[in-house]
Amino acid sequence: MSNESLANLMTEDRRFPPPAEVADGANVTADAYERAAVDRLGFWAEQARRLDWAAEPEQTLDWSNPPFAKWFADGRLNVAHNCVDRHVEAGHGDRVAIHFEGEPGDTRSITYAELREEVSRAANALVELGVRGGDRVAIYLPMIPEAVVAMLACARIGAPHSVVFGGFSADALATRIEDADARLVITADGGYRRGKPSPLKPAVDEALTRPGTERVRNVLVVRRTGEETAWTEGRDLWWDETVGRQSPEHTPEAFEAEHPLFILYTSGTTGKPKGILHTSGGYLTQTSYTHHAVFDLKPESDVYWCTADIGWVTGHSYIVYGPLANGATQVIYEGTPDTPHRGRWWEIVQKYGVTLLYTAPTAIRACMKWGDDIPAKFDLSSLRILGSVGEPINPEAWIWYREHIGAGRTPIVDTWWQTETGAMMVSPLPGVTSTKPGSAQVPLPGIGATVVDDDANAVPDGHGGYLVLTEPWPSMLRTIWGDDQRYLDTYWSRFRAGSVPGVEKDAPLYFAGDGAKKDTDGDIWLLGRVDDVMLVSGHNISTTEVESALVSHPKVAEAAVVGAADPQTTQAICAFVILRGSAAEDEGLVEELRAHVGKHLGPIAKPKRILPVAELPKTRSGKIMRRLLRDVAENRELGDVTTLTDSSVMQLIQAKLPSGG
Ligand code: WT7
Repeated sequence: MSNESLANLMTEDRRFPPPAEVADGANVTADAYERAAVDRLGFWAEQARRLDWAAEPEQTLDWSNPPFAKWFADGRLNVAHNCVDRHVEAGHGDRVAIHFEGEPGDTRSITYAELREEVSRAANALVELGVRGGDRVAIYLPMIPEAVVAMLACARIGAPHSVVFGGFSADALATRIEDADARLVITADGGYRRGKPSPLKPAVDEALTRPGTERVRNVLVVRRTGEETAWTEGRDLWWDETVGRQSPEHTPEAFEAEHPLFILYTSGTTGKPKGILHTSGGYLTQTSYTHHAVFDLKPESDVYWCTADIGWVTGHSYIVYGPLANGATQVIYEGTPDTPHRGRWWEIVQKYGVTLLYTAPTAIRACMKWGDDIPAKFDLSSLRILGSVGEPINPEAWIWYREHIGAGRTPIVDTWWQTETGAMMVSPLPGVTSTKPGSAQVPLPGIGATVVDDDANAVPDGHGGYLVLTEPWPSMLRTIWGDDQRYLDTYWSRFRAGSVPGVEKDAPLYFAGDGAKKDTDGDIWLLGRVDDVMLVSGHNISTTEVESALVSHPKVAEAAVVGAADPQTTQAICAFVILRGSAAEDEGLVEELRAHVGKHLGPIAKPKRILPVAELPKTRSGKIMRRLLRDVAENRELGDVTTLTDSSVMQLIQAKLPSGG
């Protein structure tokens, strides 16, 4: 981030106090911060009582072997029972759980009673297919109700799911199936995307030809588009046939609080994606509490809509587990915001009377670009709280969101968290906090977060550094699947507490990988990733993964990838490639390489720019100096080049640029 934008962030002085209609009767009030500060573990034990336990936990946190945490370890519960059955048992069976809106305009409303039957049928089908507690199930589905049903059916029988985003390629799917050693894949013939059917099953067929995926016994296929689909007899089964004929009754078994609930893969700096492991009791406690606190959910009257895809952690925590644990009524939309027209989202808000909306800055910026007149055509007066997640929201977008979507009236909750944290960590509370455009502001009650310098000392207000989490939290990742050492190295080895108020010296601090700043009020501002993970339209993409994909093309010898600041997508992927011997450097080749990356990693990872160069800038130890390439990609004057093996390399690279650098 440039110094200029940092300066802007520090001078933001607009404040928006909570409106009376949200503050009066808010689910969570200012005293929650005090209670949690006085007795943090007692506070979380109290939140755990939001859930229905088969055996109530006596223990809260076991931190005897840090950073491997156990929360509520002697408690037992069934996550699906908590998300579905108990609401039916409490007399809310007729409440709509899901209003589904398909991209072509087809709709379905599913009550909690119907959801219980569907989840039970699916659980019975999984058992019939030989899936046992502890077996992993890969889910590769579009945004349709069966995605929610499949996840809950897995949770119900204690089989951890690994959801793979439907936009990922066969290669990405195969890697994830192999790493998790999945036994079953749940997919669909396809989904609807930008007005036409888009097939999914072929990617599963291709993934299952890759070595390491042989242990997948069956593929359960939801019929969504009705398009012609290749079939492997004996392996492939239609969902409607296999699930449809099951009994709608299934008695859920209680599992230990630390029973694995799911694995979700996230990009790392070193090639291989990391399988983030989440468990049951602590995860459900914090997703449920934060959804209740930050969205002030009133389950009888609110209509909630989170626009994320189920393939990301936002979909796991704030479409499936948090909202359903709270008995919410929510909208699920299958498609893109501009199909068949750019007012589609606002039409949906109007149609269902959405009161709570949760989306990402990249989507808000796209809507800003399309024009104020589009949302103005719809009645958005039902909205009462607007949320943001995924990347820093720039103050302009924040203000636009509040003015044009929230009628200048709704609180905006900018929620900072990660796949690894499982649930929200830093966010305003809508009935308490005076919000500030661009800042996620304060740690939620019961959460310890601060900003430290290189020596792990808390920075004074008005200074920047790294965001760290100072205390274990219930929904924290438990490890990286199959790789405890990488868990330690990635998150816990960088900082031991120096001088941090309230934290014992040398205590391990969780390194989030984000740069952050505390303003003069002590509010936290997130400044983006400090490592080499790029943030493109809200998705984390590792430079290494894109480089590996480029180098896997026969015409590429070497590649270096950087994220260059981009007003639309936060960062845009910019690749520098060295071509092999005789490869010609032409327009066609650049397109071929972009397509190649798209095939390997999915369209989101396609570089925006690819520049063939003769050499790459490297240090003496052979490390590529991405910092310098970023300077070039962002048309800046070069930083320090003294550690380069050969400083003339940079002149050659700059000479290649259309602008001449
Ligand atoms: C990274 C985590 C959390 C679900 C979606 C992304 C960035 C996330 C914010 C925010 C500034 C944010 C961070 C974080 N991020 N929310 N409100 N303000 N940055 O999950 O893919 O695990 O990415 O997203 O850089 O570390 P993820």
